[in-house]
Amino acid sequence: MIQPEFKNEFSDDDAVDMTDTTTNIDDVVLADLQTLADRYPQPQSAIIPMLHLVQSVDGKVSAEGVRAISRILNVTEAVVLGVVTFYTQFHAHEVGKHHVGVCTTSLCAVMGGDMIYETIREHLGLDGDGTTEDGMFTLERVECNAGCDFAPVMMLNWEFMDNMTPRKAVEILDKLKAGEEVRSTRGPKITSWRENERVLAGFDDGRGDEGPAAGKASLAGWRIAKDVKEGEK
Ligand code: FES
Repeated sequence: MIQPEFKNEFSDDDAVDMTDTTTNIDDVVLADLQTLADRYPQPQSAIIPMLHLVQSVDGKVSAEGVRAISRILNVTEAVVLGVVTFYTQFHAHEVGKHHVGVCTTSLCAVMGGDMIYETIREHLGLDGDGTTEDGMFTLERVECNAGCDFAPVMMLNWEFMDNMTPRKAVEILDKLKAGEEVRSTRGPKITSWRENERVLAGFDDGRGDEGPAAGKASLAGWRIAKDVKEGEK
């Protein structure tokens, strides 16, 4: 009997090195971590935003970040590490200046996601998911970003790059490398992964209103329903 072969495209190398004590966490960052903890009735609810904040200063989930969160929330380090290993948005290894997430879940895959991933991987000279030697890009396959109506989707520092093609993706990365301005197809200027990690932690960068609130494809169903309703009047 032929045994089906399961090939895991996602890395299992996600353990935080608890012996590495290098960190950029200072008193200001500790105060910000405390601010996040104070926002929730159950402080433990702040683990995810706190981890994003740690990533914004250390470029990864550092051991010192785990210890700081554990201290502030009065939970064990194992509790914090359990969250780190559960969510793929958290990285135990330093992420490059720009995080490039190519969606290869069903709809994006059908629309060319794997082709985009392979083209970028080759262009950046990587063997698979990983970071370029110059620290400019970290490439990763990502799961569905709920942007299927704009498939195939590439995420740049978690900003949407909709209706992507292999050629467009390479052009965008080359522009970023050359220091040229790149904007998400939904408006906002692409900054850096670390800057966006601070936003994901819950600290507003004042750019929330750059770009449209919802794209045409997302509103298609609502428009049809509205037209039908108006036709019934
Ligand atoms: S499958 Fe790619 S965004 Fe949903």
